[in-house]
Amino acid sequence: MPRLDQLLASLGYGSRREVRALIDEGKVTVAGVVAKKHDAKANAHDVLVDGMALEAPDGLLAMLHKPIGYVCTHADGEGPTIYELLPARWSRRNPPVTSIGRLDKDTSGLLLITDRGELVQKWTSPKSDIEKVYEAEVDKPLSPEMIEIFASGTIRLRGEDNPCLPAKLEIIDDLHARLTITEGRYHQVRRMFASQGMHVEKLHRAKFGEYELGDLKPGEWQMLT
Ligand code: URA
Repeated sequence: MPRLDQLLASLGYGSRREVRALIDEGKVTVAGVVAKKHDAKANAHDVLVDGMALEAPDGLLAMLHKPIGYVCTHADGEGPTIYELLPARWSRRNPPVTSIGRLDKDTSGLLLITDRGELVQKWTSPKSDIEKVYEAEVDKPLSPEMIEIFASGTIRLRGEDNPCLPAKLEIIDDLHARLTITEGRYHQVRRMFASQGMHVEKLHRAKFGEYELGDLKPGEWQMLT
């Protein structure tokens, strides 16, 4: 079992010094008893801070509705980041949360957030066959022949040798389509349409594997179990 101060610090409750102060102030209980010692061994599920259970002690997985205009990096300078939309405590966790894959600054939609490195590996690996569903608005009328082309596994992205795996294109109307892909190459959706001479004007991810945005509004997040 971890030390109480290490446990709280790793879950983002503050620096080692700050969490020790929480303990000294009597705000932390273990199995119903006010904790006194910083180095007491504690099971995360027995610990309360200010009467509240610890947040995602076994790893955090959440879904964010990324709004347009936000970048998926921790770095400053490229505009507001998705991390500004999430509780600051999540970025103070060790390991900190990160997005599972990325969406472009100009793309909105479903982004998974986690501190579980194995999930990032698994769900962004080129071998992962997780379906991602995008809704695209394009600048020229879509034609039914494109359904076959996207499904054929022959689309080549500029600068890449390997063609894209088959993708499912559903035409909603002249300028709107839904595209389901299993890969996650850089700017893949925009580049697939570009290979057909089209520009994507608007792009939104509606689904990632089993997860869907539901009623989540842009900028809102929801914890997943
Ligand atoms: N494909 C893109 O072109 N952009 C995204 O953000 C995601 C997929």
